[in-house]
Amino acid sequence: MIRCIDVRKVYRQGKNEITALDGVSLDIARGEFAVIMGPSGSGKSTLLHLIGGLDRPTSGELLVDQRLVGQMADDQITLFRRTRIGFVFQFFNLLPTLTALENVILPFVLDGRSKQEAEQRATTLLDKVGLENRKDHLPEEMSGGEIQRIAVARALAFDPPILLADEPTGNLDSKTGESILSLLREINRGSGCTIVMVTHSQEAAGYGDRTIFFRDGKVEKENT
Ligand SMILES: Nc1ncnc2c1ncn2[C@@H]1O[C@H](COP(=O)(O)OP(=O)(O)O)[C@@H](O)[C@H]1O
Ligand SMILES: [Mg+2]
Repeated sequence: MIRCIDVRKVYRQGKNEITALDGVSLDIARGEFAVIMGPSGSGKSTLLHLIGGLDRPTSGELLVDQRLVGQMADDQITLFRRTRIGFVFQFFNLLPTLTALENVILPFVLDGRSKQEAEQRATTLLDKVGLENRKDHLPEEMSGGEIQRIAVARALAFDPPILLADEPTGNLDSKTGESILSLLREINRGSGCTIVMVTHSQEAAGYGDRTIFFRDGKVEKENT
């Protein structure tokens, strides 16, 4: 599902060059739940950004869902990102002035769907993450765990084959974190969605099929 061949990413900041990824090669199979661990600054988020088409590799080949994401035109990559990739972040990124339902409806509206279809689909998604009774609440009226569930529901809007999660439990207490991890595991098992999750927590890593350790922009080792 995801194939990286000698992927490098160099950021330029004025005269300085920062090598975020220094020749990463790895394969993640369809339906796999892969976990990425490693010290801060080792390139974990950069890898997710490249896989999700938020940024392009400096060199190397990156095949995601049978597409060479580094070489796609901008409009193609926007469509790819919207329909093929779901993102979940540490800081939930919900819009504070919209209710739970409206936050999940948003991607459908942006995609030009009818209001009725958008509402129906968003309601189904909120059911799926166990929040049907929080539809009309604003983010500030909900707990961190509930908000993260909504972010997961929104990420699943277009039934993406790939879900990318960057420290999704980093801002939650451990019990709430576990419920989010179980939800991700359920989504992975239920719909065969391929998941790549970055985490600092050994416990969180236990929810995945395999753990890949990064250090200094390289794959250091792997546990399966
Ligand atoms: N947009 C950027 N511009 C410049 N440097 C960046 C950018 N994004 C990340 N970096 C640098 O690349 C390295 C890897 O960052 P990152 O992938 O965020 O690490 P991690 O997620 O493992 O903590 C770090 O040194 C970071 O400062
Ligand atoms: Mg990071």
